[in-house]
Amino acid sequence: MNILVISGSPRRGGNTEIMAEAFAKGARESGNTVTIEKMSSLTVAPCLDCEYCFSHDGVCVQHDGMTEILKAFDQADMVVFASPIYWFNVTAQIKAVIDRLYARAQKGMHPSSSALLLDSGSPGVFGGAVTAYKDTVKYLHWTDRGIYAISGMKSKGAMKDSPDLKRVTDFGRSLK
Ligand SMILES: Cc1cc2nc3c(=O)[nH]c(=O)nc-3n(C[C@H](O)[C@H](O)[C@H](O)COP(=O)(O)O)c2cc1C
Repeated sequence: MNILVISGSPRRGGNTEIMAEAFAKGARESGNTVTIEKMSSLTVAPCLDCEYCFSHDGVCVQHDGMTEILKAFDQADMVVFASPIYWFNVTAQIKAVIDRLYARAQKGMHPSSSALLLDSGSPGVFGGAVTAYKDTVKYLHWTDRGIYAISGMKSKGAMKDSPDLKRVTDFGRSLK
């Protein structure tokens, strides 16, 4: 399977990227091809709702990091959204990416399944992000392959010591 992981943290080498890499390690071990697009190195502006993409075969009027993400998205069978919780939701960076998928609203979307990886400082803060994800997946008729949420991330790199990280690698490894 061709899997695209979009990591929504602006912090390079942070907890979300560690989580995304742990997932990718397991998924690659099972023979999947995994591409990770990191919002710590790409800039994606918000959607303008200009509908230029509707009349230009899905080409967006804005030329930024989304060009690279859409190229990978168009080849992916599965898309994995990975994000830290910022104020009880996903980051603005990954929300901009999700909004810009509007460029495929008419042209059609290649992936047919998805997963969600979240991390946070405190427990009990995932509800908003999970609800939005579930509603989006239902709307797009995608198959949800799993939701993994890890809290207790009080500092950069704390993810490395999380006993829950292995579950994320095992999840990746379970995908075929
Ligand atoms: C702007 C901002 C808002 C945050 N909001 C929350 C929050 O609402 N609840 C929470 O538990 N953690 C919150 N956190 C903590 C992050 O979710 C946590 O540190 C996460 O592991 C950071 O991931 P990263 O290292 O990949 O950037 C916030 C952090 C930042 C920078």
